[in-house]
Parts: sequence; structure tokens; C-alpha cells
Amino acid sequence: MSIVYLNGQFLPRAEAKLSVDERGFFFGDGVYEVTRVVRGRLFEWERHARRLARGLRELRIEPGLDIDAIRSLQERLVRENEMLEGQGTVYLQITRGAAPRTHHFPPAGTPATVFLSASPFTPPNEIRGRGVAVVTYPDYRWSRCDLKTVNLLPAVMAKQFASDHDAFESIFVREAVVTEGSHTNFFGVIGGEVRTYPNSNYVLPGVTRDVVIELARELGIPASETPIYRHEIAQLEEAFLTGTTTDVMPVVAIDGKPVGNGRPGAITMRLYEALAGRIVAAASASTAAAGVA
Ligand code: PDD
Repeated sequence: MSIVYLNGQFLPRAEAKLSVDERGFFFGDGVYEVTRVVRGRLFEWERHARRLARGLRELRIEPGLDIDAIRSLQERLVRENEMLEGQGTVYLQITRGAAPRTHHFPPAGTPATVFLSASPFTPPNEIRGRGVAVVTYPDYRWSRCDLKTVNLLPAVMAKQFASDHDAFESIFVREAVVTEGSHTNFFGVIGGEVRTYPNSNYVLPGVTRDVVIELARELGIPASETPIYRHEIAQLEEAFLTGTTTDVMPVVAIDGKPVGNGRPGAITMRLYEALAGRIVAAASASTAAAGVA
């Protein structure tokens, strides 16, 4: 049975109940994080924590807990769900709480809603071997895509569009430039150089994205935060997606046309192997706290 955390309590998922006045429900007024768990340890927790803290600050949501207390809750939840072996994810959502519906903020002192759940996770390695197809989709989103808010309707519509077209993911196009996927960052290789949209208000600063850029530099693979224009899609030698639940996923077709030779690219797979190595190494690092009773 899955145990979740809600507003101060660890309890069975079926017993966790929210108010109908919840602002996450009315407005999508909150932020979230999905963190990878490997052998009980939270992968790249500090980067997730920095993004979360920034999102809370920018949206003026007061969580009522400090960031280290949130880490302790995540680690306890991992233990409560007996996820000390294998892999999983921890989902965290913090909203502006429950209060009668008004667009402006609720009265001072309204407690935030803090919810955490944990699930076992199997990396999508089977499909990685052959790579995935993606489709382009208009980037209808607002101009604060750097904030990881639960207001995800454009992502929902984009991902469903991908499913309707037998594709793994939609990649958003804003003013003739590819920004990112519905729940992934997008990379392309042109002239041997790995490129992705620069961190700005138009993309999520993905944790996996940043790790992959670091790994490329360590491996001596040229990498730059330069956008890929729609007209450059036909010139892509390789392409891939990154994300907490995706790792590095080769893209072998865009809008039905092959990328490069239509098979996962060599640079892409080197980066995937490097990321997989980093994940395994982090899981056996002695400094991580989750496995400690
Ligand atoms: N999505 N871009 C968007 C729009 C995302 O929603 C995500 C993550 C990413 C990748 O970020 P990271 O590497 O930090 O996971 C990029 C999560 C996994 C989700 O919505 O489930």
C-alpha cells in the first residue's frame, strides 16, 4: 500500500483528502518537483531544491517548512514506502493552500498545502535502444516556463497530441524556435555540436539538462546553449530529450521525418551512458542520507 505525506501526516494514499477550496484545484496555484530515487537516494537533490526554492520565492508561496525539512520528509517517505532498493520517483507539490475562491492571495496565515508521494520507477530502457518519434506543437504556454508550476494544461494538450500521433513526446515551437518538450528538454546535434535552448523564461531549467551539459563538457563534446530553429530540424544529425523520468532519450524522427540516419546517435548514446554512470555513482555515494535509518 502506498504511503503519502499530506500537511503534516504520513498516511495511506486512499486516506489522504484535500479541501474543495484547494487553490491547486481552482487555479493550479502551486509548484511541484519530480525527483529520481536510486537505491533510496535522491538524485541531484540540491538542484531540485534550488529550483523549488526559487519557484516558491517568485510566486510568493510560503511553504511553512524549510528546504532541509522537505528533504527529510522526502527521505522518510522513501523509507515508509520501502524503496531503499531499485529505483523510484518522489513527487512533491506545494500550493498556496485552501481558502474561499478569490484570484488574489488568501488571507495571511493560510497554510500551504504540502503533498508528497513516492512510486517505483523503471527507466524506459527498452525504447531507448531504438529511439523515439516526436512531433512539433505550438508553444501556447505563458512566459514563465522557468517556473515549475502545476498549471500544466498546455503540456497535457501537447502530450496528448503526441499520443494521438503515436509519438513519445511533443516538442514546443515558439516563433520558429524549438523550446523544449511537454515534460522534457530538447537537444539537437548540428555540425558535431550539441545545442539546446538557453535557460530563460521560455524553458524549464531542467536538472537533467544541466547535468547533461556538464557531462558533455567533461567528455570534450562541444555543447552550447543555442536554440534550434524550426528550419534547422532537417539538418539535425542527432536529437534527444532529457528529463528526470526520461534520462537521455534518442529522438529518431521529428514530424514523421528521420533524424540523421534514423537511429540513436553516437553522441546521444555517449551522453546517456555518462548520465547512467553518474546516477549509479550517486546511488553508491557514502554521503547520501536516505539509506541511513
Ligand atoms: N517534467 N521541461 C519541462 C516542461 C518539464 O516538465 C520537465 C520535467 C523537464 C525536465 O526537467 P528535469 O530534468 O528537471 O526533470 C523539462 C517532470 C519530470 C514532470 O512533469 O513529470
